[in-house]
Amino acid sequence: MSKKKLVVLTGAGVSAESGLKTFRDSDGLWEGYNIEDVATPRAWRRNPQLVLDFYNLRRKNVLEAQPNAAHIGLAELEKSFDVTIITQNIDDLHERAGSTNVLHLHGEILKMRSEKDHGLVYEIKGDIKLGDMAEDGQQLRPHIVWFEEPVPRIEEAIPIVRNADYFVVVGTSLVVYPAAGLVNYAPWNIPKYIIDKRIPYTSELMNIKAIEKPASEGVRELVALLDGNS
Ligand code: APR
Repeated sequence: MSKKKLVVLTGAGVSAESGLKTFRDSDGLWEGYNIEDVATPRAWRRNPQLVLDFYNLRRKNVLEAQPNAAHIGLAELEKSFDVTIITQNIDDLHERAGSTNVLHLHGEILKMRSEKDHGLVYEIKGDIKLGDMAEDGQQLRPHIVWFEEPVPRIEEAIPIVRNADYFVVVGTSLVVYPAAGLVNYAPWNIPKYIIDKRIPYTSELMNIKAIEKPASEGVRELVALLDGNS
C-alpha cells in the first residue's frame, strides 16, 4: 500500500537548536542587520561586498552546524510516510539529517549563481568574492531569494500542500509571503499540526493542533501522535 503524504513547512525555528539564528526572535539576524542592506536586489547593486560578507558568514555558520533532533525526527518519518519538506531555510540540515525530498523556497546557501542567468547555478562551500564569474562572464551571487524577488518554487509547493494527507508547520513566524500563505492550501479535513516555541497566529478555521515547544521536543511529540496513523 502506498504511504500517506505528509507535508512539512519549516522555518528558521527548526534550525535554532543547531545554533543557527532565526530572523525575528529577540536575538535574531534582523536585529543585527537591516534587510535593506543585505537581502534585496537594491542592496546588491549598492554594496555587493556587504551582501557577500553577510552570506559568506551565513555559509560558514551552516557548515559548522549539525542537524538537531527535529531535523532527524522529520527525516525518520520517511519510514512511515511519503514526506515532503518545504523549507524557507537556506541551510542543508534537513538533507544532512536524511530527508530525501526537500524543496527550498528561498534558495540554498551552498549554491551560487550568475547574477544575470539564474539557470547557471553552482555548488559552493567557500566564500564568493567580487570578481568571481559564472560561465557567462557575469558576477556570481548567492543562490538566495531576496526580499522583493519572485519565489519561483512556490508554484511547485502549492499542489504539494493541496495533496497532503497530513500537514505540519515547524518553527516559522508565518509572516513572509508567499511562503506563509501555503498553510491556506492544506485541505480543511486533514490532520494539521504546528510546532513552535511561541505559536504564531493562524486562523481558527484551520483547525490546527498547536504544540508549543522547542522544535526537537515538539517533533518528538508529533512522532508519538502520528504513531500508528501511517
Ligand atoms: N523551536 C521551535 N521554534 C522556534 C525555536 C525553537 N528552538 N526558536 C525559535 N522558534 C520560532 C519562533 O518562535 C518563530 O515563530 O521560529 C520562528 C522563527 O521565525 P522567523 O525568525 O521569522 O523565521 P522564518 O519564519 O523562517 O522567516 C521566514 O523570512 O527573513 C526571511 O527569508 C527569510 O526564510 C526567512 C523568512
